[in-house]
Amino acid sequence: MRKKIVAANWKMNLTKKEAISIYDKLEEVELDDNQEIIVFSPYVFLDALKQRQHHVKVGAQNFHPAARGAYTGKVSISHLVDLEIECVLVGHSERRMLFNESSEVIKLKLDVAIQHKMEIIYCCGEPLIKRETGKHLYFVKNQLETDLFHLSAEQMKLIIIAYEPVWAIGTGVTATTAQAEEMHKFIRETIAGKYGNEVAENTSILYGGSCNAENAAELFACPNIDGGLIGGASLNSEDFTKIILAQ
Ligand code: PGA
Repeated sequence: MRKKIVAANWKMNLTKKEAISIYDKLEEVELDDNQEIIVFSPYVFLDALKQRQHHVKVGAQNFHPAARGAYTGKVSISHLVDLEIECVLVGHSERRMLFNESSEVIKLKLDVAIQHKMEIIYCCGEPLIKRETGKHLYFVKNQLETDLFHLSAEQMKLIIIAYEPVWAIGTGVTATTAQAEEMHKFIRETIAGKYGNEVAENTSILYGGSCNAENAAELFACPNIDGGLIGGASLNSEDFTKIILAQ
């Protein structure tokens, strides 16, 4: 049975005190066996969170694909492994758009993370113009084929997919359940076409983009939506806990 996951993407927010306070409250939430919480924290809090960890996974929002060297200000995957971080985000639309992360870089990061046996939340999703012109399915299929489909079926076991329509991220506009379920089903079928049904059925596909305590239950009730990647609403432990309990 594929895992149900609710992940927090804290982005460039929170103080250390706030981060620890939210994390400790999440540690109190009781989970079912196939349920998981992951917190993608700013680098500077990772070590402190790991020290307090029982069952809430700690993930990094980014890393540099080079093993080591003269890359001032960057953090390598070995640094994350050293802190026993178990998960990374790759392909988030903010990295693609604000930091010009190309498909080549995304592929390289996926390979590096897999070499280090990291679990990966790989993000995909269309900009508004593609949805308005009815090209959203084609666009996301192309992202999957370009970024992801060089991986083997075995390597796909480390991949969790987050479908995050760019027009829904941080905007307060959420995809309707029909829009989200259509895309999630399509992503699963696309994976099945490439890797077969078993891989597709075992791949968790999360929804992200203005998911909140009010709309989470309806989204998570869709057959192909296995949880969420939550930005704004993960910065408050009460809201985020409601989202976890909506599963
Ligand atoms: P949001 O962000 O929930 O604030 O829309 C989601 C994300 O960027 O992962």
